[in-house]
Amino acid sequence: MEPVKAAIIYYSATGTVHTLAQAAFEGAEKAGAVIRFRKVRENAPPEAVDSRPEWREHLDATADVPEAVLDDIAWADVVLFGTPTRFGTPSAQLKAFIDSTGPLWAANQLADKVYSVFTASGTKHGGQESTILSLSNVFYHWGGIIVPPGYTDEIQYKTGNPYGTSHVTGDGPVDDIHLEAARYQARRAVETAAALKAGRAA
Ligand SMILES: Cc1cc2nc3c(=O)[nH]c(=O)nc-3n(C[C@H](O)[C@H](O)[C@H](O)COP(=O)(O)O)c2cc1C
Repeated sequence: MEPVKAAIIYYSATGTVHTLAQAAFEGAEKAGAVIRFRKVRENAPPEAVDSRPEWREHLDATADVPEAVLDDIAWADVVLFGTPTRFGTPSAQLKAFIDSTGPLWAANQLADKVYSVFTASGTKHGGQESTILSLSNVFYHWGGIIVPPGYTDEIQYKTGNPYGTSHVTGDGPVDDIHLEAARYQARRAVETAAALKAGRAA
């Protein structure tokens, strides 16, 4: 069977979600997927970016990461989305990309794929779950198959978030537990997509 095609599509202003996305890449790779690692386009005005040196620094440091295009979703069997929490919802940058998927939706090219979400917030109860659930609404409209990590692995009892890997940026840099959780989440999503792919090919 052809390997599972995984797209990791994320937005990160200051690097936290980017770090989680890299761990998700490792997990997907270990599960045997071929991967497209993509950031979404920055749509904030340059003066907003420049107002926070860590934002500008991260943007410059990831200039070589290709920007997501619609074909990245069309191509994939499984899409892992990463976004920071913005007032308890996904970032406008990721939402702008999501809102450009109308043509794929109209051509029924979004359905039947596996989707999973990871996030980061500034504070512990700052809206991680609402961010993931908010994005999950989109997958219902797409006819997607939502694969959360649940409590299906030991690591999930350490992170305590069954909705998706979620780091609290205020606690400091992404730690090993959250890196492992992101790897696990991606592996589980890819393995589910592989089972679906094999079943459909049978
Ligand atoms: C406009 C804005 C809104 C935010 N809203 C929240 C929020 O509702 N809850 C929270 O805990 N953190 C909030 N944050 C903090 C970010 O979620 C946090 O800095 C982010 O997870 C860092 O991810 P990044 O390093 O990948 O950009 C907000 C940040 C900004 C700039």
